[in-house]
Amino acid sequence: MKGKQVLLTGGTGGLGLGVTPAVLASGAEVTIPYINPRGVERLKGFISPADFARTRFVESNLNDEAAVEKLVNDLPRVDVLIHLVGGFAMGATHEYSFENWKRDFDLNLHTTFLVCKHSLRRMLDNGYGRIVTVSSRGAVEPGGQLAAYCASKAGVVALTKAIADETKGTNITANTVLPSVIDTPTNRSAMGAENADTWVKPESLAQVICFLASEAAKDVRGAAVPVYGSI
Ligand SMILES: NC(=O)c1ccc[n+]([C@@H]2O[C@H](COP(=O)([O-])OP(=O)(O)OC[C@H]3O[C@@H](n4cnc5c(N)ncnc54)[C@H](OP(=O)(O)O)[C@@H]3O)[C@@H](O)[C@H]2O)c1
Repeated sequence: MKGKQVLLTGGTGGLGLGVTPAVLASGAEVTIPYINPRGVERLKGFISPADFARTRFVESNLNDEAAVEKLVNDLPRVDVLIHLVGGFAMGATHEYSFENWKRDFDLNLHTTFLVCKHSLRRMLDNGYGRIVTVSSRGAVEPGGQLAAYCASKAGVVALTKAIADETKGTNITANTVLPSVIDTPTNRSAMGAENADTWVKPESLAQVICFLASEAAKDVRGAAVPVYGSI
């Protein structure tokens, strides 16, 4: 990705702690939208001061279409979109509030739609693009207590495959990954570290994402790649 303009959403999150250093190491020009400045501060411990200085951090809520449009239009190009934003929630369906259902769709699916829509517009103008979204194993193996999460992540797979179909015959691709459990600080504090060896390391998932985002993956379109570690 040397010299490529990469829009990396969620680059300050738990998975971002592995993906952001890998994307920077490829020589890309990286822009990371964020809401909470604490995530930006935390990232300083994972990348060099020089890499930190050359990364563009832009405060931007990806559920706000006007903000996404501005974020995308302010970039010189969008060669690569790596969309990590998303989140997990649990609850029995018969007790789940509609408000929380909509929140889960906002976070997982609607952010994906908005950044893909506006990035794709720029990619079509430029004749080049790589889109990598993050779904979940739950999208293809839905489990109890996880209806909103699994349904919204299944939407991410469907959206990504639809974009891959729309962009056939162009130098634009769209693919998604299906992680199981990622070894993030949040998961370690929520579940303990006893089984962390079986989880997928952010740096390992980053290698899969970086391949799908690279020029080398030009013939891979509409893939939903399982990245399950040993679980
Ligand atoms: N962790 C797992 O075990 C696991 C398993 C399967 C799939 N996944 C998927 O992997 C992806 C990354 O997960 P993660 O564990 O890294 O999550 P995370 O630690 O909660 O990070 C989420 C990131 O998204 C950003 N974000 C959230 N809402 C945003 C918004 N409206 N606008 C802009 N940025 C926003 C956050 O930035 P701010 O803090 O600034 O808001 C943060 O950088 C997600 O799509 C998740 O569903 C995770």
